Amino acid sequence: MLKKIKYGMVGGGDGSFIGAVHRSAAAVDGELELVCGAFSSNPGRSIEAAERLGIKAQRAYPDFETMMRSESQLASGERMEFVSVVTPNHLHFDVADCALRAGFHVLSDKPATISLEQCIKLQAQLRRSGRLYGLTHPYTAYPMIAEAKERIAAGELGKVRKVIVEYTQGWLTDPVEHHGNAQAQWRTNPLLAGPSGCFGDIGVHAFNLTEYVTGLRVSELSAELNRIVSERQLDDDGTALLKFDNGAHGVLIASQICAGEENRLSLRIYGDRAGLEWQQMEPNSLWLRHTSKPTELVRTGTSFVSPSAAALGRVPAGHPEGYIEAFANIYRSFAAGVRLAANGNAAGSSTVAGVPGIGAALRGMAFIEAVVAASVSKNKWHSFPAVSESKFSRGSN
Ligand SMILES: NC(=O)c1ccc[n+]([C@@H]2O[C@H](COP(=O)([O-])OP(=O)(O)OC[C@H]3O[C@@H](n4cnc5c(N)ncnc54)[C@H](O)[C@@H]3O)[C@@H](O)[C@H]2O)c1
Repeated sequence: MLKKIKYGMVGGGDGSFIGAVHRSAAAVDGELELVCGAFSSNPGRSIEAAERLGIKAQRAYPDFETMMRSESQLASGERMEFVSVVTPNHLHFDVADCALRAGFHVLSDKPATISLEQCIKLQAQLRRSGRLYGLTHPYTAYPMIAEAKERIAAGELGKVRKVIVEYTQGWLTDPVEHHGNAQAQWRTNPLLAGPSGCFGDIGVHAFNLTEYVTGLRVSELSAELNRIVSERQLDDDGTALLKFDNGAHGVLIASQICAGEENRLSLRIYGDRAGLEWQQMEPNSLWLRHTSKPTELVRTGTSFVSPSAAALGRVPAGHPEGYIEAFANIYRSFAAGVRLAANGNAAGSSTVAGVPGIGAALRGMAFIEAVVAASVSKNKWHSFPAVSESKFSRGSN
């Protein structure tokens, strides 16, 4: 019988958003068991949340430092093997660093840290620790994103020349952070969110997805960030113009003040022979538009998708699957990586196949900082910061 992998969680207490998504996703394949956590900055609430999740009292921790220390003292078959980090952004580095020092693998939510400098420190700590690191950009784990990636890599679009990526939401149309919305409060506070609001929150997803699917790297950018809600401290809207390392051009729009929008993440990529389109709110469809034959609609769960796309789907064609399952794909891949590492087969890499790793983390932080700098600069084009995605961290993402 396959032994379940034990994991812990930091953040994700009562009333939080993404912690519950992580727990649902981790449960999908039945391979993982949540054994401990520090779920809140308030020790009492952390312990209450743990009780509600059925965690044993002695492993409901008042804070993450106690959790790492106590877990590392348990017997190897009993202690957690990795930690999921689902706190507001300003704690990602501290929690990940503490976990790595205590010998645990880390699966962190994005953005990896609140500065590129912190992320470089994280990379160094990761290298010293010999542990695994994953970053939950779930959009990379949708079946039709795998299909898009395959088709581009196979040359079906020809040479990629234009990328249009958009992530628009409407939930920050009003200054809800001043009216008790806990998620908005920290996301609009630079001390807790980092140097960008909208681009740190969702622009970075769009950036990661674009580089992942195309296999290209942004080499230069130009950007305008806006604070449409004037009393807000950070950007809630913006546009970046992109130049890619193959000469392609792109535009990335991210906004949280598009009244009425939900999670409109969409990606359009055009080569010299064909184009494709994927929309997160219709995730099981991929449109391919050709210059020489009729448009194709490719659907998950059918026999017409590539093996890599088929491997990320779970249900027959026509049954909706999406966000939770994409997160579950990340958890399943990370679990496989943890098993390999436990058997001494991690091949010296910190990155797990199928999971964005430290390379994606560094590029994401470089992107956020470059956009912020470009937005206040008088120069039009800015080189993308050089970040060292060293050999040890190179994986499929
Ligand atoms: N990958 C995605 O698609 C996605 C989606 C949403 C959020 N996120 C990311 O997830 C993270 C959390 O976002 P959210 O919307 O769930 O926030 P949230 O405000 O809903 O939840 C944050 C949780 O962290 C807890 N917390 C705060 N300080 C803590 C501490 N010192 N120790 C332990 N717990 C602490 C809070 O009590 C709360 O339970 C953010 O970094 C965000 O960017 C990612």
